[in-house]
Amino acid sequence: MTHEVTWSPAVTDAEVEPHLRAAFAREFGGAPDGVWAAPGRVNLIGEHTDYNGGWCLPFALAHRTFCAVRARPDGRLRVASRQAPDQAWEGEIEQVAPGAPGGWVAYVAGVVAILAEGPAAGPMGADILVDGRVPLGAGLSSSAALSCSSAVALVDLVPGLAGVDRAALAEVCVRAENDYAGAATGGMDQTVSLRAEDGHALLIDCSDFSLTAVPWTLPEHEVLVIDTRAHHSLADGQYAARRDACERACRSLGVDSLRELHGADVDEVLGRLGGDAEAQRRVRHVLTENVRVLDLVAALEAQDAEEAGRLMVASHVSLRDDYEVSCRELDVAVDAALGAGAAGARMTGGGFGGSALALVRRDQVDGVARAVHEAFLAEGLEAPHLLRATPSAPAHRLP
Ligand code: GLA
Repeated sequence: MTHEVTWSPAVTDAEVEPHLRAAFAREFGGAPDGVWAAPGRVNLIGEHTDYNGGWCLPFALAHRTFCAVRARPDGRLRVASRQAPDQAWEGEIEQVAPGAPGGWVAYVAGVVAILAEGPAAGPMGADILVDGRVPLGAGLSSSAALSCSSAVALVDLVPGLAGVDRAALAEVCVRAENDYAGAATGGMDQTVSLRAEDGHALLIDCSDFSLTAVPWTLPEHEVLVIDTRAHHSLADGQYAARRDACERACRSLGVDSLRELHGADVDEVLGRLGGDAEAQRRVRHVLTENVRVLDLVAALEAQDAEEAGRLMVASHVSLRDDYEVSCRELDVAVDAALGAGAAGARMTGGGFGGSALALVRRDQVDGVARAVHEAFLAEGLEAPHLLRATPSAPAHRLP
C-alpha cells in the first residue's frame, strides 16, 4: 500500500528533446528534420455532446506527445515509439488500410495515409519516432495527441500540404481515428489539441466546429485531474453503443442531430420518444448538458466558482445516471473531492474509467489530492495519479 500521493507532472521540452533526438539517431540513423508536440486535453464540461453537434469546453494540457520526424520522398513510412520499443512498424504508405497496421501505429499511419491521398502532397514518406507523455488510457486524449503531433509535423515538412489549415487537419485526425484506428471519436479532442489557445478553455460548437476562446477567470482555483487508473478504451463497444442510441433517437424524432432540439422543451421531446426509456435517458443527458456548457461559460465570465462547481456536479450526475458512462472509481473520485471541499467535480472524457476533474481552491489542492488518494485506498482501489491542469498551448513545432 502506498502512502504518498502520486503526481504526474508535465515534462518540459528540455527534458524530452535531447533524448528523443538521440533515440531517433539510434532508431533510424541521422537527425530528424524537427520535433513537434501536441497536447492531451481535459474537458471542463460538455461530455458526449460533440458527436451530437453540441457544445463542449475542453482545454489543452501541458502534458504532450512529442514526435521527431524526418520527411522522405519514397512513399515509405517508418514509425516507432519510445514507449513501445518492440512495436516499430515499417511499410509502404500505399498499403496502409483500416486496421493495418493496427494498435497505436494506426493513429499515425492513418494520418499519413490520408494526407498522402491529396494530389498536392506529391510523393511523401516519413520516419517518425514518438515519445508520448500524456498519461496513456487516462481519458486525457493521448490518442489525439499522437495523431495531431504527427499531423502538424507533416504539414510543416511537406510543401504540398502547406495550405492545410488546423480545422482541416482536425478533420484528417478524426478520420484517421474513426476509419483507421476504429475509434468512433467525435472531434473534440483533435480540435482542442490542434486549435487550443494558451491560458484559455475552448468553447467548441460541434455543429460547425466554430470556436470561442474562454479565458480562465478563476485565479484562486485550479483544475485537479484524478487519473483513476481504471481501464478506459474508446474502441470497445460502450462508446459506439451511446452513439447508436443517439442516432436512433434522432430517427424517431425526425432530426438529423440532437442539436436541432436545443432550446426545445425537454419533457416534451422525451414524451415523443414514447416507450424507448434508454433513448429518453440519453437524450435528456445531451440536451441538459448543452445548456450546462453555456451556463458554465457564463459562470466563468462572472468569475463565479460556486456556480461553475454546481454545474460540474450536475454534469456528473447526468453522466452517471442518464448516460450511464461513469464507474465506481470515477464516482469515488468525485465524491471524495467534493467531500474534501472541492467547488465541483465530475468525470471527464468518454467515461468507463479514465479521469475525473475537480475544481479546487489553490490552497486546498494538496488536501483534496490526499483525501482522494486515501478514499481510493479505503475502497481497496489502486492509488490514483493526480495532475494539476493548466490551460496550455496547442500543437506546435519545438523551437
Ligand atoms: C472521447 C471522445 C470525444 C468525446 C468524449 C466524450 O473523449 O474522443 O470525441 O465524445 O469521449 O465527451
